[in-house]
Amino acid sequence: MTTPYVMRSATERQSVSTVDSSLRLDDLIDSWEHQQDAYVRHRAGRFSVILDAIAYALPEVRSVLDIGAGLGSFSKLILQRFPEVTVTALDYDPALQQLARHNLRDYADRVSIVEADLRDPAWPAALSGSRPDAVVSSTALHWLPTPDLVRLYYLLGDVLDRGGMFFNADHLSHAAGSFLREVGEADDREHQRLSFTRGVADWDSWWATLRESDGFAELIAERDRRFAHSPENRKPTAGLHTEALRCAEFSEVGTLWQYLDDYVVYGVR
Ligand SMILES: C[S@@+](CC[C@H](N)C(=O)[O-])C[C@H]1O[C@@H](n2cnc3c(N)ncnc32)[C@H](O)[C@@H]1O
Repeated sequence: MTTPYVMRSATERQSVSTVDSSLRLDDLIDSWEHQQDAYVRHRAGRFSVILDAIAYALPEVRSVLDIGAGLGSFSKLILQRFPEVTVTALDYDPALQQLARHNLRDYADRVSIVEADLRDPAWPAALSGSRPDAVVSSTALHWLPTPDLVRLYYLLGDVLDRGGMFFNADHLSHAAGSFLREVGEADDREHQRLSFTRGVADWDSWWATLRESDGFAELIAERDRRFAHSPENRKPTAGLHTEALRCAEFSEVGTLWQYLDDYVVYGVR
């Protein structure tokens, strides 16, 4: 038996296409999470160690700034864990920010999605004077050339009040030829191999899919333009991160968590 063709009104057609588009965005977001999990074996654990540390150290926390927030993966976890908290999700990629608006739509009254370039020393102006209790970042700051990273830490020293906290989760570097570098790289390769064999999209194919998705071509062209001339990152070590934070007047700095070359570095302002 053939399915009868159903005539839909213009309003119904529009609502069906809105639902379709919402599902497509949900799929892209899910696929992003799997893709990022493929590059960071303990990504979920890394997020939760920071959430626990914030809950412990800042029981009165009211506002968190997520820098390099992407499509809002960490911001969402913060909004879920702390129902009183407002989050600023800052990034410079208009395509990921478009996805962040969808991803965080249930928290619209507690989230601001802010566009700013962390390489630009004027970026704190994008906060319009708001002062976060904590600043977090995940898998983002390795994009910054080292001089920009060091300057960013100085600026964070001004953005945070005394007692405020900073947490950076990222892959950091060990000396070429060292045991830890070799075992870290081997572990990354193996975890990625297993993930991609299971059908998880890698970075390039995820972006290729997004590029072909309705409404994203122009946003991605703008993204390509914004990141075209960023000089190469020199893979700073955990020691460089903690020393830069110390010089930026953080009173206590250190490693909160580590798995091979994957770290959570923290600073207490
Ligand atoms: C690998 S993604 C991680 C996104 C998100 N934090 C997560 O864990 O899923 C790196 C993010 O850093 C952002 N980023 C890189 N350089 C930046 C800059 N100069 N200013 C603002 N955001 C930047 C990118 O746009 C991207 O969203």
